[in-house]
Amino acid sequence: MSLLVLGANSLIAQATASHFAEAGHEIIFAGRKQDEPEKYANDFSIRYKVNCRAEYIDALDYPTHRKFVEDVLSKTPQLDNVLIVFGYLGTQEKAQADFDEAHRIIDTNFTGVVSVCELLAAEFESRKKGNIAVISSVAGDRGRQSNYMYGSAKGGLSVYLSGLRNRLSKSGVNVLTVKPGFVNTPMTYGMPLPKPLVASPEKVGKDIFKAMKSGKSVKYTPFFWWWIMKIITSIPEFIFKKMKL
Ligand SMILES: NC(=O)c1ccc[n+]([C@@H]2O[C@H](COP(=O)([O-])OP(=O)(O)OC[C@H]3O[C@@H](n4cnc5c(N)ncnc54)[C@H](OP(=O)(O)O)[C@@H]3O)[C@@H](O)[C@H]2O)c1
Repeated sequence: MSLLVLGANSLIAQATASHFAEAGHEIIFAGRKQDEPEKYANDFSIRYKVNCRAEYIDALDYPTHRKFVEDVLSKTPQLDNVLIVFGYLGTQEKAQADFDEAHRIIDTNFTGVVSVCELLAAEFESRKKGNIAVISSVAGDRGRQSNYMYGSAKGGLSVYLSGLRNRLSKSGVNVLTVKPGFVNTPMTYGMPLPKPLVASPEKVGKDIFKAMKSGKSVKYTPFFWWWIMKIITSIPEFIFKKMKL
């Protein structure tokens, strides 16, 4: 039993990994900074007494992804769980004026995830088992003026995952789309968010673990975001376009 975490530096990634470690899984922490994943691997192996190691991956360095996946699989041939956490919120206003920022938002949240996910999906499909979870966002359910660059990348990601799930279901491979609302992490630090709606990374990590273990397809976390997004997506466009969101 093992878990590969892509985007190890995220608090949500660590919170989810802690449940897998408690259940005795080997944890492979992968991230773009060499020292951080290594720090978590050492910490988890002491705390949970499970095998852990660190790997290096940059979501935007697509040509390296094949070798990354081959290396991981050669060291852990029985890899059975993958959690992809990469993400970049960026700045909407900057992205409107500077395509480099828009490009980075789209590529980190969508293209980079698709690049590495396809390689892992092909492996799990050929083995006819495995569990792939990817963090999208409620922001992908409807475009808003305040973050439509990020939201559209996550929306594209959710549609990609829906198609991948459709493809892999006959092979017994589960694909979970995680849609968190507001989470208290460095990504949202300093934002004026409505406190009752902000979840802890621990709460989200627990929801992801449970959803992966039960073979769920889509998980809104916390659960009440399902209701919030039902309402938001049902507002007619002629009203929605006049709202300041
Ligand atoms: N926080 C929220 O309210 C919220 C809500 C909905 C969805 N999400 C999603 O949840 C996921 C985790 O976010 P978070 O809140 O934990 O924020 P975070 O702390 O900013 O985590 C983002 C993670 O993505 C990694 N990353 C960014 N660009 C990368 C690249 N080019 N290559 C490799 N790794 C890269 C970061 O690594 P470094 O630390 O090395 O930069 C970090 O580990 C993201 O997909 C985010 O979009 C968050």
